[in-house]
Amino acid sequence: MKTAERYDLGPLVTFKPNKELPIYNWFRFREAFSRDFVALMLGYFNLREDDWILDPFCGSGTTLLAAKEKGINAVGVDAHPVFAFVSRVKTQSYSLESLKELKKDFFSRKFVKPNLEVADPLLKKAFSRYALEDIAFFRSEIKRIEEVIMRDLMVLAFVVSSMKVSFAAKDGAVLRFVRKKHPPLRKVFKGSVEKFIRHLKKMEPRSCEISVKQGDARKLDFMATESFDAVITSPPYLNKLEYVKAFDVEEALLKELVGIDSTERYLGIDLERSDAVFPDLKLPPVARAYFSDMKACLEEMHRVLRKGGKAALVVGQGVFPDGIVESDVLVAKLAGRVGFNVDKRLIVNKRVATKQRTVKIGDALESILFLTK
Ligand SMILES: C[S@@+](CC[C@H](N)C(=O)[O-])C[C@H]1O[C@@H](n2cnc3c(N)ncnc32)[C@H](O)[C@@H]1O
Repeated sequence: MKTAERYDLGPLVTFKPNKELPIYNWFRFREAFSRDFVALMLGYFNLREDDWILDPFCGSGTTLLAAKEKGINAVGVDAHPVFAFVSRVKTQSYSLESLKELKKDFFSRKFVKPNLEVADPLLKKAFSRYALEDIAFFRSEIKRIEEVIMRDLMVLAFVVSSMKVSFAAKDGAVLRFVRKKHPPLRKVFKGSVEKFIRHLKKMEPRSCEISVKQGDARKLDFMATESFDAVITSPPYLNKLEYVKAFDVEEALLKELVGIDSTERYLGIDLERSDAVFPDLKLPPVARAYFSDMKACLEEMHRVLRKGGKAALVVGQGVFPDGIVESDVLVAKLAGRVGFNVDKRLIVNKRVATKQRTVKIGDALESILFLTK
């Protein structure tokens, strides 16, 4: 396999460049890559309007939004209900006039003190009583918005604003609750809706199709064979399952407001079903499960790509107490096995991995794999 180092591209496979970008920054997801990375791939693969791109692990929707900005059709899939929802809302087309009217009407409604007796126990831990009252009130007001697209936008603004007044702090896979003073939810919520409208104004309307589905990248049976020109994606990293638990508060807030399907279909968590795709390697059980799942995902990517179709996969190596598992190299091997031509591996980041925060285990690499069907 051709391998090269391009550490200058390292920052592009992180969320950081998105922090200041309208719409991209509506929802912070540390595991995201940047618009600039997707733009680079769109150019590199020479993708144009009328082409179709797939991101089977679309997360916060970076690939889909970057495709939309260029007028290229895109389909996203994510197993997590929160991410599938976020991606959908970020890539819809809205009538700004109707949104402005909705905002005016919505925030002029008179507050009615709700009954909190049935509040979700997790929400009770995550919010002050004062915030919970606002949450209950706004939830019932949001439910009254008839047009689904507009309601969903309000729901996203409500969820991100609620998180700004919550006691929850993400610490890796663990949620910690630290009581602190917070501004009124109403003020933060209104500010978020205003920001969303400002950002949407900057988005040039394009006539491409973007769609998002909550689903499983191992089973894309709702997608036709040979229907995509390219895949631009980043699968979850081996042994980094933070996203499974870290968004529980957001999920609890979304429940009731949008149909949530909480079936867990995440890669590498079903240790029972792992068939050994690398029988000669001594791998931890979670790694075995991960690679057998990744093989199923690669088969699906291969099936839905047209002949000559391209794929760019950002893959990080797995860190275990006994050493580093070179997932990028192993995923490239699996890609070859399912029929892809592995064109090249570009190493873009190298991070020192430690155990107990001080003992060095090794360098964990992050690579972009370029594949052709
Ligand atoms: C590295 S993140 C992708 C981030 C994305 N590129 C972005 O910019 O936001 C990996 C995503 O894979 C999703 N995921 C995990 N298992 C999945 C599966 N079996 N099918 C589809 N998505 C899955 C996770 O929920 C997570 O959002």
